[in-house]
Amino acid sequence: MDRLKNKVAIITGAGAGMGRETSILFAKEGCTVAVFEVNEQDGMDTVKEIARNGGTAKFFKVDVSNEENVKQAIKEVGDTFGKIDILINNAGITGVDKKVHELTTEEWDQVFNVDVKGVFYCTKYVIPYMLANKQGSIVNLSSIYGTLGSHELTPYHAAKGAVYAMSRQDAISYAKDNIRVNSIHPGTIMTPLVKELGSRMEGGLEAYNKLMSEKHPIGHAGEPIDVAYGCLYLASDESKFVTGAQLYIDGGYSAM
Ligand SMILES: NC(=O)c1ccc[n+]([C@@H]2O[C@H](COP(=O)([O-])OP(=O)(O)OC[C@H]3O[C@@H](n4cnc5c(N)ncnc54)[C@H](O)[C@@H]3O)[C@@H](O)[C@H]2O)c1
Repeated sequence: MDRLKNKVAIITGAGAGMGRETSILFAKEGCTVAVFEVNEQDGMDTVKEIARNGGTAKFFKVDVSNEENVKQAIKEVGDTFGKIDILINNAGITGVDKKVHELTTEEWDQVFNVDVKGVFYCTKYVIPYMLANKQGSIVNLSSIYGTLGSHELTPYHAAKGAVYAMSRQDAISYAKDNIRVNSIHPGTIMTPLVKELGSRMEGGLEAYNKLMSEKHPIGHAGEPIDVAYGCLYLASDESKFVTGAQLYIDGGYSAM
């Protein structure tokens, strides 16, 4: 119940999927959660759910690809709660499913603006609070697609690869400051993002689910809570000697 007692976390993209599940779990473990979300209704719903469970959370309307927006919101979190212990860089989009010769610059930038610059901005403005506090844990949501190739989503692969590289680089940059940085690499997790992807495929979500289940040795896709528990471990002091690590939560996908 108290694995994150007295800690303050910012979780981006906390209005749906893994971000929401992680926010709810963190609050149950005693953490105060700053819900960063571009979709106001979804963000408010996460806060309400946390309050229903007796936890503490506050909504901040944030587009992580907008530097001013991120800077202002992080200042507000610092002013409101006095410190920031944890940052979960979870907000992400998949973008278009095209090969590199078919892509426009706008399509490339759309994914990089959210998935890569979003991580850069949030990390940049949170680090000074962690330096002042002499400790911190940052968890970046990469993907199995950040380290492996596949037949789909080219800009997403490149963006998640950048997130993977940033995680290791930042882990080394801030190791002596007691700020840990780790990446999580989920396989297919049944969230609104994946349901939307699946519905675009021939045969719809059912066909996509079947295909993805076959690709995961464990025989099925994951659930948001599977990733939320990984975030909990990396955010908590239980992982105090873990930095620059990649945690695959993928039903064995990357072991093949
Ligand atoms: N679902 C999967 O199978 C899977 C696998 C590997 C990695 N991931 C990664 O995990 C993370 C979470 O994925 P999910 O499946 O829960 O996604 P999701 O689409 O279900 O939820 C993402 C949330 O982020 C929000 N968001 C999107 N753009 C934003 C922005 N610019 N600013 C603030 N919020 C924004 C959305 O509104 C949404 O609430 C993403 O980074 C995704 O790339 C997902």
